[in-house]
Amino acid sequence: MATNADAPNQLTRYSRTAILLHWSIATCVLATIPIGWYGATFKTAAGQSATNLHKSIGIAILALTLVRVAWRLGHRPPPLPTAMTPMMRRIARATHVLFYVLLLVLPLSGWWMSSAVPVRHAFGFGLFDVPFLPVPRGWASAGGAHFIHVNLAWLMVGLAVLHILAALRHRFIERDGVLTRMLPRLT
Ligand code: HEM
Ligand code: HEM
Repeated sequence: MATNADAPNQLTRYSRTAILLHWSIATCVLATIPIGWYGATFKTAAGQSATNLHKSIGIAILALTLVRVAWRLGHRPPPLPTAMTPMMRRIARATHVLFYVLLLVLPLSGWWMSSAVPVRHAFGFGLFDVPFLPVPRGWASAGGAHFIHVNLAWLMVGLAVLHILAALRHRFIERDGVLTRMLPRLT
């Protein structure tokens, strides 16, 4: 397989599995944030349905992330362009590591919160019931998880904005292959 050293202008691509997992997780995250916000803001029947959907998508994100992390441990990502400065490389790596941490801690804190509240609502896309976690019940436990969940959710929003701007910068300013190598090949 070609490497950056063989062809400096030809970046190697992410594998099909990595691309599929990246875009499935990204789509779920970008959908679940506004749905979660709607459910937390409007305490109506529609808001409750939104929160239930939010929880189901969130658990799917957790499952996909576990697969992604397992896959990632066995498959190194393609190297970054040689033109990137050491500082930009460090920022890119730190962003990706922080994403993985958030993709695990956010669903777990949400799951904890939903398991700890005195009145629990079943969820699982209306198809099955996701079991509740064996965590301490009550408002103190649920409140702690809620604090973590909401604050990390907004950190995720900030990181996603930074990440998307970086991808667009690679595409339209640097004009290197960093965005393209994460896009599915259409031919
Ligand atoms: C990566 C996955 C997730 C993200 C990015 C995320 C993000 C969010 C956001 C942005 C909110 C609205 C916060 C607010 O404005 O108050 C929220 C609320 C909420 N999330 Fe999540 N969430 C995720 C996963 C989960 C999971 C897996 C569960 C439960 C199984 C869950 C349970 C909740 C609940 C119950 C609320 C409503 C809290 C309230 O009514 O104040 N979340 N989440
Ligand atoms: C909130 C949703 C998203 C999340 C959680 C996310 C997460 C990630 C993570 C964790 C990586 C690192 C992959 C690895 O090497 O293990 C990554 C890479 C990448 N993402 Fe996203 N992503 C999201 C949305 C997007 C969007 C909307 C775009 C395009 C505009 C995008 C473009 C890219 C690109 C081009 C890479 C490859 C970077 C490189 O080659 O080093 N991502 N993403």
